[in-house]
Amino acid sequence: MLGQWEEEVDEEVMIRCYDERRDRIQMERVEKSCEIGHDDQTLLSTDSLGDPICRIRNSPLFTMLVAEVGNKLVGSIQGSVKPVEYHGKSVRVGYVLGLRVVSRYRRRGIGSILVRKLEEWFVSHNADYAYMATEKDNEASLGLFVGKLSYVVFRNPTILVNPVNPGRSSKLPSDIGIRMLKVKEAESLYRRHVVATTEFFPDDIDRILRNKLSVGTWAAYYKDDNIGSWAMLSVWDSSKVFKLTIKKAPLSYLLLTKVSNLFGKLLSLLGITSLPDLFTPFGFYFLYGVYAEGPLSGKLVRALCEHVHNMSASDDDGARKVVVVEVDGGSNGDDDALSRCIPHWKMLSCEDDMWCIKPLQCEEKMNGFSEFSNMCLRSKPRSSLFVDPRDV
Ligand SMILES: CC(C)(COP(=O)(O)OP(=O)(O)OC[C@H]1O[C@@H](n2cnc3c(N)ncnc32)[C@H](O)[C@@H]1OP(=O)(O)O)[C@@H](O)C(=O)NCCC(=O)NCCS
Repeated sequence: MLGQWEEEVDEEVMIRCYDERRDRIQMERVEKSCEIGHDDQTLLSTDSLGDPICRIRNSPLFTMLVAEVGNKLVGSIQGSVKPVEYHGKSVRVGYVLGLRVVSRYRRRGIGSILVRKLEEWFVSHNADYAYMATEKDNEASLGLFVGKLSYVVFRNPTILVNPVNPGRSSKLPSDIGIRMLKVKEAESLYRRHVVATTEFFPDDIDRILRNKLSVGTWAAYYKDDNIGSWAMLSVWDSSKVFKLTIKKAPLSYLLLTKVSNLFGKLLSLLGITSLPDLFTPFGFYFLYGVYAEGPLSGKLVRALCEHVHNMSASDDDGARKVVVVEVDGGSNGDDDALSRCIPHWKMLSCEDDMWCIKPLQCEEKMNGFSEFSNMCLRSKPRSSLFVDPRDV
């Protein structure tokens, strides 16, 4: 694919599909040169364990495009397509991720071309919408997607992060039972209770639950049958796909890490969670499909999270140093209540996530773009967000 953008860049740019054999090493360099900061002071580095397309490999349909100048890779983008429930309808959505342009080639239109080419690929695979996630302070990304390419911000999820204290298990309340569900049971509960209350529920939930990275689904209940409350969640092992490392952090964080390292054993004896070493590569368990029903279900969600913490704490390899959950931001009543029962450290969590969406081929269905924007805004209070672990 040769672009129609030659007036924007002085050298010819070629957009083509990623070729694993030819591009893997150069691609790692592009990725390294574009490491993204969490804010002005935190820098999170991703190690794809030698596989640049590790984040999309588990999706039913995916691609990666690269931008090449001469023989040099200067940018890339990844995308996947899947069927979901959106506003009560079955639609196909394309997820945009991993957009990178090396700094010397920025502001020459390469990022825009990569997104447009990926959108064309989405349309050719019958996607109705394209969506992406970024951070509130990523001006370049918001300028490109919202400012230039007409994406609309439709959700502000919060990423909650809880450190794992190796070797220390929390005692679960004696009035609560926890049971691991079979895949069929989990699928049936999700389809019966969760589809109607969430946006972006994946139609292929069975594939997710059966994926080798899906550790399992657990339900919590009160042993006393008269309390009509229950909760469930599923666990995804992201540590087998990629590892993260904090490269740069605020001073307060560095100090806390030092204290934790010095007094870790003592803190543990006192039952206080110490900060794990996040300056060396770490993986995490991602909790998805968190659902709760009934007046006392908050305590059940907490117990399920503690249960996953205990699983990670007793892992022999110690590879999962944090447990991560993504819930809808403060505007949604249900998710706000949920985030209050999910154990997390504010210092490690991030409230700045932004999800943006754009219709690709449903202009006639939507009667124009303003109706689409209104629909996105209206969707906020009605339902929570189902975060597909394959998108993490
Ligand atoms: C985001 C990124 C891919 C943009 O690539 P790019 O090739 O520079 O993008 P384009 O040249 O196509 O820019 C298109 C428009 O986006 C906006 N934009 C791009 N960079 C911007 C910046 N730093 N600040 C504000 N707006 C910006 C502008 O509206 C720009 O149009 P203009 O140049 O006519 O003003 C690049 O900055 C990058 O790789 N950043 C690091 C990785 C990253 O944050 N990826 C996004 C993750 S979601």
